[in-house]
Amino acid sequence: MDSSRNPKSEAWLRYADDLGLSPFHLDRIVPQAAALDSEQAISGAAISLDVSFAAPRSSSTSGTLGGRSFSSDIGEPPPGGASAPEISKRSPSQAFVPQVPGISLFEERLENDSLERIRTDIGPNCTRCKLHKARTNIVFGVGNPKAQLVFVGEGPGHDEDIQAEPFVGRAGRLLTQMIEAMGLKRSDVYICNVVKCRPPENRLPEKDEITTCSPYLIRQLDVIKPKVICCLGACSAQTLLNTSQGISRYRGEWFDYRGAKLMATYHPAYLLRNPAAKSEVWKDLQDIMALLGLQAPKKK
Ligand code: URA
Repeated sequence: MDSSRNPKSEAWLRYADDLGLSPFHLDRIVPQAAALDSEQAISGAAISLDVSFAAPRSSSTSGTLGGRSFSSDIGEPPPGGASAPEISKRSPSQAFVPQVPGISLFEERLENDSLERIRTDIGPNCTRCKLHKARTNIVFGVGNPKAQLVFVGEGPGHDEDIQAEPFVGRAGRLLTQMIEAMGLKRSDVYICNVVKCRPPENRLPEKDEITTCSPYLIRQLDVIKPKVICCLGACSAQTLLNTSQGISRYRGEWFDYRGAKLMATYHPAYLLRNPAAKSEVWKDLQDIMALLGLQAPKKK
């Protein structure tokens, strides 16, 4: 039966998904990748490397931007942004079909939700998962509450845990360079993580921790309503695309996510260990810039 033509069947299938029964709908599931991709396989040990985000200027991308200048507040559209920005030709590979959650019986958007309400709902002393035991601060998120672009990482590290702000350590400084290479400031975008408390020893967040904390991320995204969500690394991409496939399978491709365009790219911490991958990430950022009608700042 083609359930996509029958709203009632589709609602029941989504209900089954919500109950964790989706594997019975074999035609609807994503093949599970057994192995983690290279990004996840590499340990968290940071090697001392040049962290500059040397963004090569691609003539082709800047050419498509039509000389549009960009306002520093990307909560608002860029001036003169009436003509449609060029969207990347790259689209989801046929091999990868994400299960992006639609709005199902248990996934409706909360009316009158706000970032303040989400923060209040989490509370100052959240103990919903085991990450609370070792954390210093809950790291909620930072930036423009009306941002057109949201970056989503995996979880706070040591510096973030101390300062209660995402991406302020070494990887964070590289993310700031990436944002500035796009002609933006940190305060133009919104930055948050899948889990709001630091996983001990900077390990990856575990499934139960992600399941507990990700509803707050989804609410943040629903409230901000960005045009573009950029997933930094496999953890956030896998969480929002509802897949266990490695990020290299779909990095740089566009997906629809609850009214936004979503692209996954490599995590800045991965770039610190593998600077050669910066050129791939820069391509992704240029696609995001094209979609948002942004121009790279002129070289000084
Ligand atoms: N890595 C992340 O994924 N998030 C942070 O906030 C810092 C480092």
